[in-house]
Amino acid sequence: MDVIPTIAELRSRTDAARAAGRTVGLVPTMGFFHEGHRSLMRRAREERDLVVVSIFVNPLQFGPNEDFAAYPRDMDRDLAMAAAEGVDVVFAPGAEEMYPGGEPQVTVDPGPLADRLEGASRPGHFRGVATVVAKLFHVAGPGVAYFGQKDAQQLAIVRRMARDLSFPVEVVACPIVREPDGLAMSSRNVFLQPDERAAAAGLSRGLHGAERLLRRGERHAAALAGAVAAEVEREPLADLDYAAVVDEDTFEEVDRVERPARALVAARVGRPRLIDNVLLDPAEAAP
Ligand code: PAJ
Repeated sequence: MDVIPTIAELRSRTDAARAAGRTVGLVPTMGFFHEGHRSLMRRAREERDLVVVSIFVNPLQFGPNEDFAAYPRDMDRDLAMAAAEGVDVVFAPGAEEMYPGGEPQVTVDPGPLADRLEGASRPGHFRGVATVVAKLFHVAGPGVAYFGQKDAQQLAIVRRMARDLSFPVEVVACPIVREPDGLAMSSRNVFLQPDERAAAAGLSRGLHGAERLLRRGERHAAALAGAVAAEVEREPLADLDYAAVVDEDTFEEVDRVERPARALVAARVGRPRLIDNVLLDPAEAAP
């Protein structure tokens, strides 16, 4: 496995691979790997000839009061895990390599989808995500890029960006990997104290409650989102930010679930802010 710190080297590596007729898969990450990241690498390894994983804690997507400096990092452990998954290239640039001279002046406008939900709580976050993902797409030139469903709004925005800006990249969504009690894996879970760790399971419990209600015939989005919120609010250590039900394709909030929708939840539990979601498919939920 090669560890490449510069854009020029990565570009020549992937250019050569494509010229030789090899397919390139990209897994963008901020490192501190867990099984969620590894599932993306595994999928890429199964499908592509050259697998590139990027590790870059992108300062542009963190707000001034967010956890950029404290974001967990462990490059040696990450490199060992990537090697174990059969990754070919790890792209690990420094901030100066990605943003020479500091913050870029030209960025990607992620559009109206980025103003709601996560975007409302984290102004500028999705502009930072869209900008760094656009750069990674340009530099690595993947035919396919792999993203986790865990960050559902990010996934929707990246899909929309690829379509609206004609990136020749297929965006593949990978399922959420969870702990045995349902908690969605996240690099930030490392900050949860033991009592907070138990409270954090309230998010996925709430989402599963909404799924159960849907199966029993509930179609009102307010009732489904309310069930999620109620479960999180039962946990004194969890501070709910939002619970919402959005259309699976447009990400607009819906009144009724008549076609596939997604229940979303965000809450602060101790230090970290956690997000999770689940598909609500009325076709799978007779009657
Ligand atoms: P990061 O949080 O490191 O996540 C990298 C990828 O792993 C994302 O596509 C995310 O959705 C996926 N992922 C995280 N937890 C997961 C889980 N439990 N199950 C499945 N997939 C999971 O998301 C980012 O980094 C950044 O915003 C990035 C896209 C790299 C841009 O900086």
